Amino acid sequence: MCGIIGYIGKKPAFPVLLSGLKRLEYRGYDSFGFSVLNKNEPFLFKKVGKISEFEQNFPNPSGEIGIAHTRWATTGEVTEANSHPHFDCQKNIFLVHNGIIENYQELKDKLIKEGHKFTSETDSEILCHLIEKYFQDNLEEAVRKALREVKGTYGIAVISKKDPQKIVAARFSSPLILGVNKDEFLVASDPAAIITHTRQIINLDDNEIAVLKPDNFFILKEKPLETIEWKIEEAEKGGYAHFMLKEMMEEPEAIENAINGRLIIEEGSVRLGGLDEIQERLRKINKLILIACGTASYAAKVGKYMLEEYVGVPTEADVGSEFRYRKPITDKNTAAIFISQSGETADTLAALREMKKKGILTIGITNVVGSSQARETDAGIYTRSGPEIAVASSKAFLGQLTTLAMLTVYFGRQRDMSLVMGKRIVFELAKLPELAKEILKQNDKIKELAEKYKDFKNFWFIGRKYNFPIALEGALKLKEISYLHAEGCGAGEMKHGPIALIDENFPTIAICPSDSVYEKMVANIEEIKARKGSIIAIATKGNEEIKKIVDDVIYIPKTLEMLTPILSVIPLHFFAYYLALLLDRDIDKPKNLAKSVTTE
Ligand code: AGP
Repeated sequence: MCGIIGYIGKKPAFPVLLSGLKRLEYRGYDSFGFSVLNKNEPFLFKKVGKISEFEQNFPNPSGEIGIAHTRWATTGEVTEANSHPHFDCQKNIFLVHNGIIENYQELKDKLIKEGHKFTSETDSEILCHLIEKYFQDNLEEAVRKALREVKGTYGIAVISKKDPQKIVAARFSSPLILGVNKDEFLVASDPAAIITHTRQIINLDDNEIAVLKPDNFFILKEKPLETIEWKIEEAEKGGYAHFMLKEMMEEPEAIENAINGRLIIEEGSVRLGGLDEIQERLRKINKLILIACGTASYAAKVGKYMLEEYVGVPTEADVGSEFRYRKPITDKNTAAIFISQSGETADTLAALREMKKKGILTIGITNVVGSSQARETDAGIYTRSGPEIAVASSKAFLGQLTTLAMLTVYFGRQRDMSLVMGKRIVFELAKLPELAKEILKQNDKIKELAEKYKDFKNFWFIGRKYNFPIALEGALKLKEISYLHAEGCGAGEMKHGPIALIDENFPTIAICPSDSVYEKMVANIEEIKARKGSIIAIATKGNEEIKKIVDDVIYIPKTLEMLTPILSVIPLHFFAYYLALLLDRDIDKPKNLAKSVTTE
């Protein structure tokens, strides 16, 4: 952690830089340096050691523009050559840097091949040569182009002999503020360095480039390039009759993409890079609120069961359209998690902005890269489900459930989840893509079932615990693409009213894997049987008993109870699809719906 400062104005820069640098020395003090532009001639002074050791015989260069640095060595030993400011081959560009350039070696090798001569071992110096490479006559243009190639963190201040009347400053992750005064401007790593000159500051945001001139300043927002990973074929139907069918066939891949490179089986944990920056803050979180709409809200409900059971943190799940008008009980140790495929759903975004206003930590689980939710949340996880074109969400839901399971391990292992339990969940997660592929093999069977039940106008979906939200999802999917009436209900709730509707004209889909509430599900199935209701069961492979009490069974492979929703929902997506197909519905663009609901 180094300290940087810059001054441009009417006063001699050196004394300002010196007093500011002394206040920054707590950030690192193994060497320091100044560069001051005097009539466009750069003056450079660098020393190893503390400022106080050289105070007696300091130079006093004239010039009203300058930058300075106090170093805490990261890359390159404590030498004068490695101290800042660094400069380019022509001694035109002078730069001070706080941060770490991760890809500096690769860039350095390239620059050396292009003829650049380096004078230090540091990562920072490559910034000078990169700027030199792009420098025509405009410093901020060269800085903007150079930073596009950089991976890592930086707070920088740059001056140039050939474009002298300015300081260009930029930040990514490392702190950097601007000090604004009537006729002078400062840049520094910390307010303490400039407080004697001004109390007016601007906190630069990531990817912002500030240009300070003797009489004014402006800020450029550099939008980070984001790469669409998707291949064009993916955004086409790929030979399927509908996008929804293609996207359902990609559900095993959606699980695969979500877990890829994120499971650490030997440690029974997960790597979620998008949370790195808030890792420490997450340890203190003692309440979670999951907010989403539609299908994504059912993922939130499943997440609530997972997080309560395996992390032991009080967890709420609510829909955006309600949450935004609620007065939720939160405090500084509450985190709000927003789930959205599109990242543009108005109700979810409104709830997000509400939480941000209250200073609540916001985390996004998003599919669309660079969407509003992804940009506005403090941190997040991409589900990597690829483009989802059909209005009815399918594979993105699998991506959301899988991501919530990983988040559960992430939080759990930060708390009292054991290595053994972590390993068990991560090991089972790794098996899920293959298990999901097994379910796709029952495609024809599900198609036959749709044929068998196509004349019914009403359907119940029932489930308990982790599969109660899946019953809600099954009903929503059938409603939104087949326009048939369908209701999802907690199986235990049926006898408190809904069972009044049960008769031979109202079939029920019962999601009853062999889990901790299986026996309860069997009892509820018996109650429906007793009222001549027909039942399709989603049951665990090997459960032959169930065949005796229901009309039809679709089997899903055995997995951990908390992961069953990721498998049990797949047959429900296909059942809805084949019923809609038989009813000749416009499956990819159902009436009255939109893929992303961007209005309230
Ligand atoms: C689901 O099939 C629907 N398209 C709809 O309920 C959707 O889940 C909801 O609008 C939320 O969308 P989001 O995930 O893009 O925020």
